[in-house]
Amino acid sequence: MIRTAVLTMSDKGSRGEREDLTGPAIMDMIKDGGFEIVHYKMIPDDFDTIVKELLYLCDELKVELVLTNGGTGFSKRDITPEATMKVIERNVPGIAEAMRLKSLQITPKAMLSRAASGIRGGTLIVNLPGSPKAAKENLEFIMPALPHGIDILTGRDSECARK
Ligand code: MTE
Repeated sequence: MIRTAVLTMSDKGSRGEREDLTGPAIMDMIKDGGFEIVHYKMIPDDFDTIVKELLYLCDELKVELVLTNGGTGFSKRDITPEATMKVIERNVPGIAEAMRLKSLQITPKAMLSRAASGIRGGTLIVNLPGSPKAAKENLEFIMPALPHGIDILTGRDSECARK
């Protein structure tokens, strides 16, 4: 089981003015795929708050995977990728690139997601877009590759199987 945290970025949601549909949709998907949800929270699109929460999840709670959603677009308040880049130690561009590549087959608006992905310590952080539809489409595509990457990251597996 991969210890996973789901983090929803939403100014309105964190003020109680909007129900979070995306966080629960992500949790439903990954629960079916052998991931364990150990933390879920909705926070405002505030740089310092996001950095603080990511540091807590990586360094204190030591989750293996953080799936953020929202705040990857062009609005002035969209700063999830910047907060993610601030805390990661190693960039994992392939996951964000793969999500955009696949999503471009669904909508040209996929190029508007500035999502980042990277590693801090033993934690992989992946930014997903904010709508339930977009988050599910992106997650569906990357999910099959995540367990292997996390097994290597955490040392559960020492090498990639070679055929
Ligand atoms: N990716 C997929 N697969 N499907 C989508 O509908 N929507 C896009 C994009 N990625 C979309 C998608 C849109 S419209 C935006 S603005 C960006 O994600 C950023 O979304 P965010 O600001 O909610 O993070």
